[in-house]
Amino acid sequence: MALKITVIGTGYLGATHAAAMAELGFEVLGLDVVPEKIDMLRRGEVPMYEPGLEELLGRHVEGAEGSSGRLRFTMDWAEAGAFGDVHFVCVNTPQKHGEYACDMSYVDAAFGALAPHLKAGDLVVGKSTVPVGSAERLAAMLPEGAELAWNPEFLREGFAVKDTLHPDRIVVGVGSERAEQLLREVYAKPLGEGTPFVVTDYPTAELVKTAANSFLATKISFINAMAEVCEAAGGDVAKLAEAIGYDDRIGHKFLRAGIGFGGGCLPKDIRAFMARAGELGADQALTFLREIDSINMRRRGQMVEMAREALGGGAFLGKRVAVLGAAFKPDSDDVRDSPALNVAGQIHLQGGQVTVYDPKGMANARRLFPTLGYAESALDAVRGADVVLHLTEWREFRELDPSALGEVAAARVVLDGRNALDAALWRKAGWTYRAMGRPGA
Ligand code: UDX
Repeated sequence: MALKITVIGTGYLGATHAAAMAELGFEVLGLDVVPEKIDMLRRGEVPMYEPGLEELLGRHVEGAEGSSGRLRFTMDWAEAGAFGDVHFVCVNTPQKHGEYACDMSYVDAAFGALAPHLKAGDLVVGKSTVPVGSAERLAAMLPEGAELAWNPEFLREGFAVKDTLHPDRIVVGVGSERAEQLLREVYAKPLGEGTPFVVTDYPTAELVKTAANSFLATKISFINAMAEVCEAAGGDVAKLAEAIGYDDRIGHKFLRAGIGFGGGCLPKDIRAFMARAGELGADQALTFLREIDSINMRRRGQMVEMAREALGGGAFLGKRVAVLGAAFKPDSDDVRDSPALNVAGQIHLQGGQVTVYDPKGMANARRLFPTLGYAESALDAVRGADVVLHLTEWREFRELDPSALGEVAAARVVLDGRNALDAALWRKAGWTYRAMGRPGA
């Protein structure tokens, strides 16, 4: 008989995973403790902007027209325990308030609530990003006969559906051959398509995720450090990245210099990793991550200084600043630890009159930074602006007509914090174009 799957936590990760499991042909029950989320999902609506996810959900959620009906949602732990053979735990692990460590309270609560309802033979699979050592501790919370596996998730926001259905690799930390076999059954389709399957112990599986995110953060901060040197020496970091990237040991990906990384993962994951290494007495091994973090945070201040300079070097008071971008990256409405909003907020606090526009992140940005100014379009944001900051590289911004914007701006000065606009196009329309790490470009 085909396996039945429960998915605990229906945020970015869980909602995508649940829909993807239904797409793979399984009967799926998603559980969340937030009633509004469950109501939305039952109606086939996704609580965040994620390309393709609403369609995938609509194809499977029970009750939707023409759907497979394989996907249902509940708030009832007993129902979830009774339903599933394999239970994926996908709750979030944010940074603790005022600390580097990650907050395990949602994971602990999920295991605590699910455990009494598990049956003999059930497999619980942790997907959340957790400090190494958590799996062993959580395994001890499960009842006799139930088992734990750890299966980190590498999905990127904006590509969540594609990354889940066609992952680069599947990593499973298991305590028995049976657990491995069950997971091979769950992932039979991607495995049949040749996806690499890496079987490890618990701590290695937990570490793979934090190591991968640390490496990505390191690449970005490395190129941003090179950008700082280029700014001092008169070089061009975009050309430098292009040239070093042709060495396929280095590669071109994740070498876009600018205002740095943000979001709900990279910043908090490297901090939690440092905190955990400290607890394990291995803090020296990760001191470089502190530098990665500080290079990254420095970029935001440097963008503010670049804007100040472009405005003549004095105070921001009385100056109008247009900010294109609020989400931490394009194709997402997520504004958690967004470099764009951080820069906008700093300028606002220094007296600048900031107007932000983002294609999808407006509602979240307004909630988080209610005192910033907002416009309904890029053109409206730029109207009357003394300087334009390009801070999230949405396609919509690359496709803007700089001539039309030039008509409404008070001054034609654009600062590209993402090295993504077409400099020649903007200059042709009479703009002074400057980009981070490319003083001569
Ligand atoms: C990341 C990992 O990529 C993913 O594998 C993991 O599962 C979760 O964390 P995500 O947070 O969705 O995914 O975003 P990602 O695409 O990695 O971008 C992170 C940040 O880095 C963004 O703010 C982005 O703008 C920035 N970035 C990325 C750069 O500044 N330069 C680059 O070259 C690439």
